[in-house]
Amino acid sequence: MSTELDLRSLLGTTSLPLREARMLMAHVLDKHYQLPRSALLSRDDMSLNNKALEEWKILESKRLQGEPIAYLIGKRGFHNIELQVAPGVLIPRSETELLVEIGLREIRRIEKEVVTPKVLDLGTGSGAIALAVAHEAPKAILTATDQSSEALAIARTNAKHLSLDSRVEFLQGGWYEALVEKALFHVILSNPPYIASQDPHLLQGDLRFEPISALTDHGSGLSCLETIIAGAMRHLKPMGLIALEHGYDQSETVVSLMKTAGFSDIQTHQDLAGHHRVVTGRK
Ligand SMILES: C[S@@+](CC[C@H](N)C(=O)[O-])C[C@H]1O[C@@H](n2cnc3c(N)ncnc32)[C@H](O)[C@@H]1O
Repeated sequence: MSTELDLRSLLGTTSLPLREARMLMAHVLDKHYQLPRSALLSRDDMSLNNKALEEWKILESKRLQGEPIAYLIGKRGFHNIELQVAPGVLIPRSETELLVEIGLREIRRIEKEVVTPKVLDLGTGSGAIALAVAHEAPKAILTATDQSSEALAIARTNAKHLSLDSRVEFLQGGWYEALVEKALFHVILSNPPYIASQDPHLLQGDLRFEPISALTDHGSGLSCLETIIAGAMRHLKPMGLIALEHGYDQSETVVSLMKTAGFSDIQTHQDLAGHHRVVTGRK
């Protein structure tokens, strides 16, 4: 029997966009009833018990105040894996899958000659890049660094859940400082904080809730890219590849930083929306 607390009524009367309301309700159904997402349709006349209803109301209200869905449900799909996320880490973006694809292409290329490709992910956050690469490239060994202990705790949990913890080592420290002096890699990947501190986007949407140190360098947006490029030659094997994600208007500057640092075969790469988002260079 239908009551005003059944799923159909709750989803029909919420002020949230239906797609978002369904994501949050699917989370409630999974957590309180272990029901799959399809129950949104097949069981739409079911009433929520008090606990589930209370949770729905809290999630609905938090989302109406702008909190990111990924933090509310505690997870986000990225490339071919699912990651746990919490307010201590950046929510992985689909744009960053381009960096993963570039890394995987290079790993497949060198796998003809190299038994164990060694890959470094600088500023790993939730572990997104390192874990997505490890998931697709079973011979690769990954090192992932971050200065944030909160982020590394989440990244380590993700590695364990994905059974990738034996192939991904997490180290805490500023960029290359976390590594031993002589560590060398075939591939360096990074999606560093590149938003300028004055960029109004920092005050909009999901970004308001994400860790500020994951988003901006508190300056022009270029300083982390500069540091990473300047240190890369010391940690790349001969012919090694660096691939860096950057802001849509930073491609020319990143290319010129790579030229100055002595990289060859410098290439720019566009995301699906046609924006230049990644620059690669070779030692
Ligand atoms: C844009 S987020 C990227 C997170 C993740 N790689 C991704 O793509 O979803 C940048 C990450 O760099 C880390 N970070 C910022 N400054 C750093 C530094 N000086 N050394 C190491 N990591 C740093 C932040 O903690 C954050 O996790």
